[in-house]
Amino acid sequence: MVLTRNTKSSSRKKPEREEEEESRQEECSSSPKPDEEKNSLRVFDHRIHKPRDSLFSSSSGFKDYRGFLNLAVILLILSNTRLLLENIIKYGILVDPIQWLTVILKDPHRWPCLTVCMASNIFVVIALKMEQMLYQRSIPEKLGVAILILNLSAVLIFPAVAVWFLPSYLLASFCTMILYSVVFLKLVSFVMVNRWYRLEATGRISSLHFQHPERQRTHYDHNTHTVKEVSSSPQVSYPDNLTLKNMYYFYFAPTLCYELNYPRTPKIRKMFLAKRILEVLLLTQVELALAQQWLLPIMQNSVEPLRDSDWSKIVERLLKLALPNHIMWIIGFYLIFHSLMNAVAEVMRFADREFYRQWWNAETVKDFWRDWNMPVHRWAVRHLFVPLVDNGFKKWQAACLVFLVSAFFHEYIVSVPLRIFRLWSFMGMLSQIPIAAFVSRYLKGPYGNMAVWMSLIIGQPLAILMYFHDYYVMARGQHFKSFA
Ligand SMILES: CC(C)(COP(=O)(O)OP(=O)(O)OC[C@H]1O[C@@H](n2cnc3c(N)ncnc32)[C@H](O)[C@@H]1OP(=O)(O)O)[C@@H](O)C(=O)NCCC(=O)NCCS
Repeated sequence: MVLTRNTKSSSRKKPEREEEEESRQEECSSSPKPDEEKNSLRVFDHRIHKPRDSLFSSSSGFKDYRGFLNLAVILLILSNTRLLLENIIKYGILVDPIQWLTVILKDPHRWPCLTVCMASNIFVVIALKMEQMLYQRSIPEKLGVAILILNLSAVLIFPAVAVWFLPSYLLASFCTMILYSVVFLKLVSFVMVNRWYRLEATGRISSLHFQHPERQRTHYDHNTHTVKEVSSSPQVSYPDNLTLKNMYYFYFAPTLCYELNYPRTPKIRKMFLAKRILEVLLLTQVELALAQQWLLPIMQNSVEPLRDSDWSKIVERLLKLALPNHIMWIIGFYLIFHSLMNAVAEVMRFADREFYRQWWNAETVKDFWRDWNMPVHRWAVRHLFVPLVDNGFKKWQAACLVFLVSAFFHEYIVSVPLRIFRLWSFMGMLSQIPIAAFVSRYLKGPYGNMAVWMSLIIGQPLAILMYFHDYYVMARGQHFKSFA
């Protein structure tokens, strides 16, 4: 072992030794005295100093701070271990992995959301039926489009009314609103794409403006270099796509953008699927445990400062909430956008797995929104942003409208289950526009990236505390049990 260390240190010091050797040789060559040659191994005044920068000076060009990264990780582990111990000492073990099951089973009549979710099929079938009738011209175009618009409106109104009036679990209500928002976005895409095909068939859109992806078999994966993996299943063309099978493939596929055909993988990789399912099960439990042990006690302890409007304590609560909330958000991101979506895609042999891009490196807020939720971003670009730009809107106006629609859905998903309209979510999403402008203008490179992280770390718990204040403290006094 000693030998190894010596070898390493000697190899690391090699350049210095070489320098010493060089200077020694220089000295020797300048005054080659035979007496000194005997003592050539011992040189006392070889050159020590030369012009060089300190490593922290930018002029040194030094950039290798890996050691500090390791230090940060160690400090993070140590401080979180301390937090964990403090939490357990204070509250004991609160984690109950099957609490959700016992809560649901204890009160089985409180499952109306399941029925509401299943009812989404009605709207899906109506959309399909209308598209079939419009193709067959068994209904006038204008009437058909009006019914489709009514159907889409019902997709938003029906769950809102149902969730508002039916007593249900808060979490189930949130899930119902998310499901219907997804169904709405999917149906908008389905209706728009079929309309493009119909308009092209009747000559109202020039074929020159129509790329017909279903006729370009090699088109799909040329960017991701996965052409070989895509199966050559027969391509469907309009109107053969107007079938229940095609519609329900889209209903379950992890995308919001309708296409007549999707890139498909040749087979289901069982090992890959097993890993993703395991991740889903494990991470769901981790999320549950973090919420029970860490997040909910902090929120419980926020009641008093919120009720008394004690601002210094509220800020302290906010910062305390930021950490568990952010950890849960990151895990939730991986759980949904990687594990769950990949599992669903694998089962459906859906080959386009770009559910997220590298948003963690985003140096502007704009980049973050472009990269973090690809299904929504793709839908927003295809069905809102580009049509608006094509209709004469400037890009910034179109982007503002996209954020406005996104803000509406954020508010819709949060406010209806809570039965309060405070617009915190709406404002939070809309505030992304000035924040994005500020960050792009004043913060560049790593500072921009840090600003993106800060807005995520602080923005979310701020919104949570606002809603928590309005929901529990104002509306229900201080009786706080859980979100169930
Ligand atoms: C509003 C929004 C679409 C603006 O995007 P942006 O990237 O700032 O705007 P850009 O001008 O760069 O164009 C966006 C896309 O449209 C494409 N595009 C622009 N003009 C186009 C045109 N005339 N025809 C076709 N494509 C066009 C661009 O190529 C770009 O594609 P890419 O994202 O695949 O690179 C984006 O910020 C967004 O999706 N916001 C909402 C996000 C959201 O609410 N997510 C919900 C998360 S829960």
